[in-house]
Amino acid sequence: MTTLRLPGLADPHVHVRGLGQRHKEDFASCTRAALAGGFTTILAMPNTKPAIVAEPALREYQAEARVEAHCDYGFHLGATEDNAGEVARLAPLSTGLKLYLDPTFGDLKLQKLTALVEHAATFPKHVPILAHAEEHSLASAMLVAHLAGRPIHICHVSRKVEIELVARAKDKGFDVTCEVCPHHLFLDEHGHGLPAGFCEVRPVIGTKEDVRALWQNLDAIDCFATDHAPHTRAEKSSDKPPPGFPGLETALPLFLTAVHEGKLTIADVEARMALNVRRIFSLPVQDDTYIEIDPDEAHVFEAARGESRAGWNPFEGVPLRGRVLRVVLRGKEAYAGGRIVGAPGDGRDVRGGTP
Ligand code: DOR
Ligand code: ZN
Ligand code: ZN
Repeated sequence: MTTLRLPGLADPHVHVRGLGQRHKEDFASCTRAALAGGFTTILAMPNTKPAIVAEPALREYQAEARVEAHCDYGFHLGATEDNAGEVARLAPLSTGLKLYLDPTFGDLKLQKLTALVEHAATFPKHVPILAHAEEHSLASAMLVAHLAGRPIHICHVSRKVEIELVARAKDKGFDVTCEVCPHHLFLDEHGHGLPAGFCEVRPVIGTKEDVRALWQNLDAIDCFATDHAPHTRAEKSSDKPPPGFPGLETALPLFLTAVHEGKLTIADVEARMALNVRRIFSLPVQDDTYIEIDPDEAHVFEAARGESRAGWNPFEGVPLRGRVLRVVLRGKEAYAGGRIVGAPGDGRDVRGGTP
């Protein structure tokens, strides 16, 4: 058996849930899933219940995370039509400002172009804004950020036309970064084999052509983000299935499988799942923190034995090569031998958690 040491992974896009949606996931279950997947830092999305769009909600989630989290975490704030001043003030406590420009789970969607322009102008320029921006919204988000002279991070790019636009914007010197999710790289609309409800995700799974274009534009992809979005089996089987896939526990094994198949190098994975994420979101150094992996071990993920409360996974039953053996967080073993050995509360807020 070979053992490789990598830096602790960082995921810029995780729907932790908590508070009003603890039945889907909470900071304890989510950070346990993170560690099992090799992540030592996760950045939490604001489309929660209540949404993280003002200080009182941020404080509530910070309090939950402080006592529950097994790995480090940060909070992205959510943009609304009228909270540009409030989120700009809270920016030092956050890792970014998320703008929802297209419909998805929750009701944080921005309706007016004026709101996008105002947030881009007001949010501190050294903290990224992130956008759920598909199709036309992606073009508009990149242009508005560029005109405001500020960085923007495009979430879960999934289509050929989108990744090609991002690549061209980068060539033209736009301060744009982007992430792509495992489900958009490893599944296509015909081959996913998932039952109705369970295949619902936003952005939707792409065509074969979209998937090919993402792989062809690997150089334009800064990060691999899971967009871990847990919903229960009962919710996914209902007649109104919410969109979203759990992803923290299967992301690294999927990318290691791609390494095994010669589609990626370990350096590609390390850059997109650790180094670039840490740079883009200015994450603090985690001393004496690393993961040990077996890059080759053959296995199949069983969601019933996983840590996420979702209890299912779109990649269940898929033959995988490569897995996490051990995670060390600040000199302390956090995960080993398939078990969480660290304690809730070991995780820290990457922004310190206090004003
Ligand atoms: O499929 C999705 N689920 N896409 C999103 O943008 C949100 C997420 C969720 O929160 O469930
Ligand atoms: Zn999104
Ligand atoms: Zn998301």
